[in-house]
Amino acid sequence: MSERAKFATRLGVITATVGSAVGLGNIWRFPYESGMNGGAAFIFVYIACVFVMGIPVVVAEFIIGRGTHKNVSGAIKTLSPGGKWHLIGWGSIVASLMILGFYSVVCGWIMDYLFAALRGGLHGNSADFAKMLTSLSGSAWRAPMWTVIFLFVNFYIIQRGVQRGVEKAANLLMPILFVLLIAFCVNSLMLPGAGQGLKFLFSPDFSKITPDVVIEAMGQAFFSLSLGLSCLLTYSSYFSDKARLVRSASIIAVLDTLVAILAGVMIFPAVFSFGVAPQGGPKLVFEVLPAIFQQMPGGYVWAVLFFLLMFFAALTSTISMSEISISFFCEEYGFSRAKASMLSTTIALVLGVLCALSFGVLSGCKLMGMTLFELFDYVSSNILLPLGGMFFSLFVGWRVERRIVDSQLTNNGTVNVRTRRVLLVCIRYIAPAAIFVVMVFGLLK
Ligand code: PHE
Repeated sequence: MSERAKFATRLGVITATVGSAVGLGNIWRFPYESGMNGGAAFIFVYIACVFVMGIPVVVAEFIIGRGTHKNVSGAIKTLSPGGKWHLIGWGSIVASLMILGFYSVVCGWIMDYLFAALRGGLHGNSADFAKMLTSLSGSAWRAPMWTVIFLFVNFYIIQRGVQRGVEKAANLLMPILFVLLIAFCVNSLMLPGAGQGLKFLFSPDFSKITPDVVIEAMGQAFFSLSLGLSCLLTYSSYFSDKARLVRSASIIAVLDTLVAILAGVMIFPAVFSFGVAPQGGPKLVFEVLPAIFQQMPGGYVWAVLFFLLMFFAALTSTISMSEISISFFCEEYGFSRAKASMLSTTIALVLGVLCALSFGVLSGCKLMGMTLFELFDYVSSNILLPLGGMFFSLFVGWRVERRIVDSQLTNNGTVNVRTRRVLLVCIRYIAPAAIFVVMVFGLLK
């Protein structure tokens, strides 16, 4: 890249980063994770993780990215010359491609549902949709085919340079997604037996909080905020020097959490009303959502709109995942954007197809009791992202010169950040310690 890109507007800074954060993590992963981990108890721990670890790590990534206007490796080399810390960049690349691999499988399912919705073919009850998804995900050609098609769409956008396209699309689409979610929530709340779903979501039974629940909630917080992978670091390297880091980080965290909770309010009343088991796992949303649409007047249009927006929400996230490796290969190794996009897409294609097959042909191939899809999801979200987050906060807290940290937080002393001290304590001590403790208890239990 000869001249380094920048987001054009202040709004673009927010919508592009929120576009990265809001995705399948909120609408697909959050509901099934809460369903499998006790509902309200999980949500309670999740919100605690967003505040104690999430916001401080977002700010830490922003300080590194905006402070240097470089990709992850280049940024760390600039801030800590001569050290080997920049090798963490490779960790980010590996984790981002793993996530891109399994994420694209779900994006592929969404495309299949979108086309079924367009054809008017989404009929039946949640048991029928459960069958539909089992046949789709288990198929040796349909699921991999959609995964490949999705990755080609992603490739088409990233190789063109995303700034204007993504920024514009995100500006338009994110608000629509929000309004649609609210419409679906209202509908779901009017179903018979909706109260039980709300109870499951909002009345915590603290005895359900186990080390497993805590590590899943932390992993979900990192995944949903796109944290620990240097994704926000990379995006913030495109911020202007006027962008306010702490304010942007707070807006992202609040909006992302709000969308996740709305998704929960949309799904769980319906889960209980239709008698589906809340522990359904990754397939939950696909079984329950189409059944909600049928209850609504004009269900055809709602279904199409919904899957279309899910598709865009997912796409703004996969673009941000891809940008990590692209900026890395372009700036560190002098690749052209086209070549870097091709490289990361090729790796994602291989991983994606393997993950797509892990519900069918490869369902017997297990490592540590997990299929490849489950393994990638578990290892990246619950281990690699928190480790990355711990590194970024320790790096900013202890290694980056305090003068740089302060000038980034306050835009060279021009904005007054009242939470500065608390934030620094969180970045230096609380966030890394909390991540460490959760990982030790969660993984070594
Ligand atoms: N935050 C995205 C989501 O919720 C997923 C993501 C993870 C994107 C990591 C980028 C990096 O869907």
